[in-house]
Amino acid sequence: MLEIVEKLKKEFDAKLAESKSNDEIEAIRIAYLGKKGAVTDVLKSLKDMDAEMKKQVGQQVNVLKDEIEEKLRLQAKKMEEIKYQMAMERAEPFDFSIPSTQEIGSLHPITIVQRQIETIFKSMGFIIEDGLEIQTEYNNFEAVNIPKHHPARDMQDTYYLSNGQLLKTHTSAAQNAIMRKYGAPKPGEPLRVLFPGRCFRNENIDASHENTFFQLEGMMIGDNISISNLIYFMKVLLSEVFERDVKVRLRPGFFPFVEPGFELDINCLICGGKGCSTCKQSGWLELLPCGMIHPNVLTMGGIDPEKYTGFAFGLGLTRLAMMKYGIKDIRVLNSGNLKALKQFK
Ligand code: PHE
Repeated sequence: MLEIVEKLKKEFDAKLAESKSNDEIEAIRIAYLGKKGAVTDVLKSLKDMDAEMKKQVGQQVNVLKDEIEEKLRLQAKKMEEIKYQMAMERAEPFDFSIPSTQEIGSLHPITIVQRQIETIFKSMGFIIEDGLEIQTEYNNFEAVNIPKHHPARDMQDTYYLSNGQLLKTHTSAAQNAIMRKYGAPKPGEPLRVLFPGRCFRNENIDASHENTFFQLEGMMIGDNISISNLIYFMKVLLSEVFERDVKVRLRPGFFPFVEPGFELDINCLICGGKGCSTCKQSGWLELLPCGMIHPNVLTMGGIDPEKYTGFAFGLGLTRLAMMKYGIKDIRVLNSGNLKALKQFK
């Protein structure tokens, strides 16, 4: 009986050595290890053997079974390698240094401006955060001091989901989560965060209104932050983006989450202030609403308004991109019109 096991092993080795494909390997596996395979037969016959024989043959045949499995595996792997080798020999030589004939894409103008502002603010110690696009009513409204039935909600009508959540109407929706994430600032180390994002509002679409647009919000909270800090950062921002002096005006503005609140308008760069459809004939464009964070908002974010103050600004990123590049119609930006969009480098 032991000779039979030995013979099986030799036979198997010879057959395997001749195999040239995965199908052949599979056939060999079935011939030896399959239900009616040669090794299986020996295992089945164990039950008719006497105890001593059963022990010896059983051991040997199990060792052989393991060996066969391992050899089959290795042979299959070798086959793969050979196949790959052959494919490589057949393949045309490929020169990786040839320039692409495909057109390369370009960054969206909003992305370009966003990255530019991120770079400026990172150099001033700001962290970049990401807010969710789908928000709870609490984060979008209550947490920024806009309770239910507050008239300010009317100006930010948006799209509600069937589960009661909504598409965020402004990047301010992330304020609460960010304050909670970082907690109270350490002395002399104000919390400085920039959080750009896509916002949604139920708008009648025209040259300057879209239902989907981008804002870029910034927040600085510390033990001694004042309006002077706010104005300084706004000036740096605008001069870096426009690389020239732009006329701005600061006027009081109302937002429930800041006190005092301001509107920073810029002179319309499309018409030079004469009045056009982009600036609704006024010559000015609301670009940078901002203000000192309302104590209620700090409290809801877990930050003590008796110890800390801070400013926030909500830059209209889409508008800024339009001003920077002289894009007259906001609809171009979401149009997917590559010819229009790839001009901006
Ligand atoms: N979230 C406000 C809006 O979208 C803008 C804003 C942000 C105003 C931060 C003040 C401070 O209208």
